[in-house]
Amino acid sequence: MSDNEMKRVLVAGATGYLGKYAVQMFKRQGYYVRVLTRSEERLREPGPFTAPALSKDDFDDIFVGEVTKPETLVGMLDDIDLVFSCVGISRQRDGLTFEQVDYQCNMNLIDLCASSSVKRFVYVSMQGAENIMQLAITQAHEKVVTALKNAGMDYRIVRPCGYFSDMGALYDMAKRGRSFLVGEGTNLMNPIHGRALARVCVETAEGDELEVEAGGPEVMTQKEAAALAFEVVGKPEKIHVIPMWLARGLVKFIGLLSNQFGDLAEFIVTAGEIDGVGPKRGTTTLRSYFEALHAGKPDV
Ligand SMILES: NC(=O)c1ccc[n+]([C@@H]2O[C@H](COP(=O)([O-])OP(=O)(O)OC[C@H]3O[C@@H](n4cnc5c(N)ncnc54)[C@H](OP(=O)(O)O)[C@@H]3O)[C@@H](O)[C@H]2O)c1
Repeated sequence: MSDNEMKRVLVAGATGYLGKYAVQMFKRQGYYVRVLTRSEERLREPGPFTAPALSKDDFDDIFVGEVTKPETLVGMLDDIDLVFSCVGISRQRDGLTFEQVDYQCNMNLIDLCASSSVKRFVYVSMQGAENIMQLAITQAHEKVVTALKNAGMDYRIVRPCGYFSDMGALYDMAKRGRSFLVGEGTNLMNPIHGRALARVCVETAEGDELEVEAGGPEVMTQKEAAALAFEVVGKPEKIHVIPMWLARGLVKFIGLLSNQFGDLAEFIVTAGEIDGVGPKRGTTTLRSYFEALHAGKPDV
């Protein structure tokens, strides 16, 4: 596809941590950017953990719709060449399951593409999915990937490691004076800043590689990241380890009360024991991110 054909993008998930940076990055790269949102207000507010507030200069038009309800999306893809979706549940909000959001919402978008001008679909899944296929979140993501591969449409898959937004929770705990880690905190990771990941997403959208993994510049353990947060906030390091047997018991208990929270808790616990390391694509260090949070600066 030539550059001229690929210049109109629909960004779904535009109000989230990655989505806000992705909107800005597509715009900066010269795209006509349409954003899907269920709340214009949320688009214009700063997002979680330093994700930027978007202004009218960051996009070209807004389509207000509910991605859970395909009937509200009629006309959304008119004249659109490329769909970028990072719709998914990172923080539980609506009481819906990974199947209902991560899978079904993205299927709604893929189905809509069949009768549209869309030529390519870029989807954000996760790095290392093959190692954690027992999790509901992974199954939902990978069902989308399989559907996309069978949809007869050009596609790209981005597979990120953990986001700096998740590291923000370590910063918050350090600020309160006490950090809790699930497991020993010795598993390795290289989390990535949202802006760096957004750049990878745009490059992937334009490139030939079908699936691209992306992590940040530093490989560290969870414990090292937690210790760094204490150093930046200037408080004595108090890191408590929740043993795996206890965490697993809690997950079972939470799962009995609520499917949705049980699935999320299982994901968090599993993330506490597996490595999540991918190719180094970001350059922003975790220290500078924590320092930006500490200085109350909107971004690094
Ligand atoms: N966080 C990580 O470390 C990580 C690592 C690898 C992959 N990922 C994947 O990357 C994707 C984006 O993550 P993120 O942290 O940027 O997520 P996020 O900040 O929670 O944003 C999620 C987006 O999905 C939308 N969404 C969620 N539930 C919805 C619903 N019921 N109806 C309509 N829209 C809904 C949100 O819209 P509203 O603002 O309207 O709720 C928001 O735009 C997710 O699929 C996640 O699984 C995350």
